[in-house]
Amino acid sequence: MKYGFFDDANQEYVIHTPQTPYPWINYLGNERFFGLISNTGGGYAFYRDARLRRLTRYRYNNIPVDNGGRYFYIYDDGDYWTPGWMPVKRELEQYECRHGLGYTSIMGERRGIRATQLAFVPLSFDGEVHQVKLQNTSLQTKKIKLFSFVEFCLWNAYDDMTNFQRNLNTGEVEIQDSVIYHKTEYRERRNHYAFFSANRPLAGYDTDCEAFLGLYNGLDQPQTITAGQASNSIASGWSPIGSHCIEITLEPGEETSCNFVLGYVENPEEEKWESPGIINKKRAHAMIAQFADETDVERALSELRSYWNDLLSKYTLQSHDDKLNRMVNIWNPYQCMVTFNLSRSASYFESGIGRGMGFRDSNQDLLGFVHQIPERARERIIDIASTQFENGGAYHQYQPLTKKGNHEVGGGFNDDPLWLIVGTSAYIKETGDFGILDEQVPFDGNVDRAASLFEHLKRSFYHVVDNLGPHGLPLIGRADWNDCLNLNCFSATPDESYQTTQNLEGRIAESVFIAGLFVYTGPDFIELCKRRGLNEEAATAQAHVDRMRTATLEHGFDGEWFLRAYDHYGNKIGSKDCEEGQIFIEPQGFCVMAGIGVKEGLAHKALDSTRDRLETPYGIVLQHPPYSRYYMNLGEISSYPPGYKENAGIFCHNNPWIMMAEAVIGRGDRAFELYSKIAPAYLEDISDIHRTEPYVYAQMIAGKDAVREGEAKNSWLTGTAAWNFIAITQSILGIQPEWDGLRIDPCIPKSWGEFTVTRVFRGDTYVIHITNPQHVSKGVATVTVDGTVLTNNILPVAGDGTIHQVKVLLG
Ligand code: GLC
Ligand code: GLC
Repeated sequence: MKYGFFDDANQEYVIHTPQTPYPWINYLGNERFFGLISNTGGGYAFYRDARLRRLTRYRYNNIPVDNGGRYFYIYDDGDYWTPGWMPVKRELEQYECRHGLGYTSIMGERRGIRATQLAFVPLSFDGEVHQVKLQNTSLQTKKIKLFSFVEFCLWNAYDDMTNFQRNLNTGEVEIQDSVIYHKTEYRERRNHYAFFSANRPLAGYDTDCEAFLGLYNGLDQPQTITAGQASNSIASGWSPIGSHCIEITLEPGEETSCNFVLGYVENPEEEKWESPGIINKKRAHAMIAQFADETDVERALSELRSYWNDLLSKYTLQSHDDKLNRMVNIWNPYQCMVTFNLSRSASYFESGIGRGMGFRDSNQDLLGFVHQIPERARERIIDIASTQFENGGAYHQYQPLTKKGNHEVGGGFNDDPLWLIVGTSAYIKETGDFGILDEQVPFDGNVDRAASLFEHLKRSFYHVVDNLGPHGLPLIGRADWNDCLNLNCFSATPDESYQTTQNLEGRIAESVFIAGLFVYTGPDFIELCKRRGLNEEAATAQAHVDRMRTATLEHGFDGEWFLRAYDHYGNKIGSKDCEEGQIFIEPQGFCVMAGIGVKEGLAHKALDSTRDRLETPYGIVLQHPPYSRYYMNLGEISSYPPGYKENAGIFCHNNPWIMMAEAVIGRGDRAFELYSKIAPAYLEDISDIHRTEPYVYAQMIAGKDAVREGEAKNSWLTGTAAWNFIAITQSILGIQPEWDGLRIDPCIPKSWGEFTVTRVFRGDTYVIHITNPQHVSKGVATVTVDGTVLTNNILPVAGDGTIHQVKVLLG
């Protein structure tokens, strides 16, 4: 069942009922200020860091779900309602939500008033603009009142929901003209405040939550709204809110609009105050002035649209398949940008307080994004590398605001360092900027201990080499990519974290996945050595990679598929000898992507086993059979009920590794079949089962052993976005950035006859038309660039900034 449709021309998903199977959300903002907004107007906003600079509150686990946001109530002669349906839930005669690229517009109509709430974060602006358009669709004059509502968070989102003995006393606001200023803690150490403005004179306002709602009322029934009258409350402690009340008269057919700005201001210490106790509002005034009129909103929105058009124009596909086109051209790169910006910090599933930027996550996220804004990928690589330890290990996470490693989580995830090689190599292949390797980058945030980025990569490489186990395979440490396979944890205490507790400090548990990752990205490190003239270094590294390949073939293959690991006792994990958890997806993907076992025929076997044992109608489950009980030697993976999350859920993040592995062995039909099984646009018709948004990937879909098979959870912030983008654009459509050019090597379904990719690469534009008259999956017969036949399938960098016509013949 569908709840909306794709409007590809406008790059929007249009939702036609507020009662979607779960809140379907969008992200606003792309630089420093971010907001989340659902199709009913729920959500929250923050500046840079969802934990430390939260502007508005949001309650997870709330009843009902998705209750709290930036709401606009319309009071119409005793009746009142909200255009997004929530929180009042008054029946609407019309409803439509359009989620676009960086903006959302929600329209509701009732009793002759059509209200449209448009929300976005303008470019280079530290705030959200909400424009409410009101139109009288009736034949009578309408006198209505518009009430806005936001609930302020007392900045630190974690403290805000735990420290009530303090927080119920600290709330402070100021009101001047039509602007409500939230200034809690500004009197002491904070140099920032928030404001909520309206571009109209007010009939009243409220800033105290209790005065606005009434102590025992919910957001569906605020006492000021039922009374149709603001109470002009001034918050002192308790819960500060911002609510404007605006009187509006509309003749039949007349339309008007109001602009609201929810902004964030930082003042230098010496400019904090205007007069004792009164905050300096200069910067807020300047921001508000930018959105004085309706046309200001139009202009900013059209700037935002062209910004996105430009970003998305870097890779575009024309094919016979609309679903594929919209994934590749719009929604997948859009999600990649969001995951790049926010890592795993703030979504409707990630509370924005527990996790900063992940070392492994962010390195993977930038794979899907580097072609759009390489400068930002560069900056991110340096930030990530700056949290690395001198021994090559890494903090698992860091806070975006401080850029410091997170001590609570610490390090010891032994795959982490390698992702820095993966991310940096992708950046250099995209840009040709080898100079990044000479950047001086601190260790552990300490500028006195800095070394070149190249040295950081070397330490990453040797962190694996220096930490091998009994079979010559990498020690797993706390965990590898699979955070829930905790082979040194042995936790029997309910409140211990599986990720940070290590009760047995063994040097026995090894990961075949890390071995695969090492062999996959090792050649990148070797190539970088060679390009720096370090031939001996390169030869030594090559020997390590060769040894790892041999060790993986000798000790990491189980007859029909790759093993997953050896546990603390040296026992096999992911083996036919295991009672449960006999085969895991991760090593099948990465070992084959690394080319291990391809010429020996083992890669085929491994992928066939994956198909036979792990594949379902909804995708490939992470492992099978699921663990039916808790295994202390395996950790969190066995803590989940069968079919969910890492315990045999369909973890969408690693499905693309199998697509890419299938492409390595040339099986294009399989690669694309797997792609379309989990790509959200293909799941639109089963939205009632899938439940999360049909325009973005979710982290997990419940597997075949789950009670609710096919149901997705945790949409938006997942490495799934980047890897699926790589799988489709590079492995399947076959346009692969390389050190010296663009390699063309598609692996497609045999039935495909042709497609065209327009790819911007290092300033040139390549219009690549690929034809497949022989109906093969793989194999490039000829490539011509501007009429000249190439001797291989790598488009050289033209470097002239013009458009180049490329013809590729498969066969
Ligand atoms: C989550 C984490 C990621 C991890 C994955 C598998 O998505 O963000 O780092 O690799 O789970 O456990
Ligand atoms: C839980 C999740 C896993 C995630 C981890 C991060 O273990 O199952 O997906 O990576 O938390 O902390």
